[in-house]
Amino acid sequence: MKSTVLVLGANGRIGGALVGAFSAAGWAVRAQVRRPPPEPMPAGVSIVTCDALDAAAIAQAAQGADVIVHALNPDYTKWDALVPPLTASVLAAARASGALLMLPGNVYNFGSELPPVLSESTPEVGNTPKARVRIELEKQLRDAARDGVRSVVIRAGDFFGAGSGSWFDLVIAKDLRRGRIVLPGPDDVAHAWAYLPDLARVFVAVAEQRARLARCATLHYAGLTLTGVELAAAFERVCGRPLERRQLPWWLLRLGAPFVPMLGALCEMRYLWRRPHRLDDTRLRALIGDLPVTGLDAALRSALGLLADPPALGGPAVSQAG
Ligand SMILES: NC(=O)c1ccc[n+]([C@@H]2O[C@H](COP(=O)([O-])OP(=O)(O)OC[C@H]3O[C@@H](n4cnc5c(N)ncnc54)[C@H](OP(=O)(O)O)[C@@H]3O)[C@@H](O)[C@H]2O)c1
Repeated sequence: MKSTVLVLGANGRIGGALVGAFSAAGWAVRAQVRRPPPEPMPAGVSIVTCDALDAAAIAQAAQGADVIVHALNPDYTKWDALVPPLTASVLAAARASGALLMLPGNVYNFGSELPPVLSESTPEVGNTPKARVRIELEKQLRDAARDGVRSVVIRAGDFFGAGSGSWFDLVIAKDLRRGRIVLPGPDDVAHAWAYLPDLARVFVAVAEQRARLARCATLHYAGLTLTGVELAAAFERVCGRPLERRQLPWWLLRLGAPFVPMLGALCEMRYLWRRPHRLDDTRLRALIGDLPVTGLDAALRSALGLLADPPALGGPAVSQAG
């Protein structure tokens, strides 16, 4: 019999990628959205339309599911207010259904002085507002294990390669048509990235190994670790031309922050572009082995092709990981 997954936040960046990956792997997929999907979902996917704050509706959608993925992401400037009730709603659904709860984690938990290598045992440091929210969110998952909720956090770097509204499309690739790449940090600082089609396949592989997971697990996904220079060189290879490298004018964001809360929220995260970091995925690989990884140029080519206004690309097309 097919396993069933409920993807919460299916219109989002990772949500959309997860719907595609679970569906391609032969799962029965329920996709929760609060507005009609902008593009048709894969054949066979059943769409559940409701607000995730409606705990009864989410619990009903989760009935009989083997896995729930919590891919919801409230307004970036309202995490304090919205993450706790969303967490409560999702945990209640996991508790009632007995499904494994999967959460895409991020690196905020390690605070503003994060060390260069992040493993599952790296201490979490709540010295930024968003670190505190994420630490509390994951604590709630661990606490819920006491009354039977099984969960796994798969922690990854910045997403690219599906959806829009991220550092990749809003900043780095925004001026490509004018022959420029904009870097949010110094050229030589390593930054962790996750190409979403690959990360989504990792979620499927972990879900398929759910019987082997601890009741409450955390796994790190390494993805791609790239300095600004490495990223810019890859952009040049894929675009087939030299690109001017510019730094993001953070002072402009700071100037606008008192009037546009989102700019203030982005400025809070500047440290992630100044502190080199990568995720250690030893534990994940011990569970699922080495999954095929899409090469950097192929991933970039595909991500650039998805931009609202894609730039002309040079060089040969490269196939993605299967
Ligand atoms: N983005 C990254 O680089 C990154 C990296 C690592 C981990 N993560 C984590 O991955 C998770 C998902 O992030 P994402 O970037 O994929 O999110 P996203 O693209 O911003 O999408 C989030 C989705 O959540 C939905 N949503 C928010 N509040 C809702 C509500 N009350 N009811 C129903 N739907 C609601 C949104 O619906 P609408 O479409 O209707 O607005 C949206 O489709 C988050 O926990 C995030 O922290 C993200």
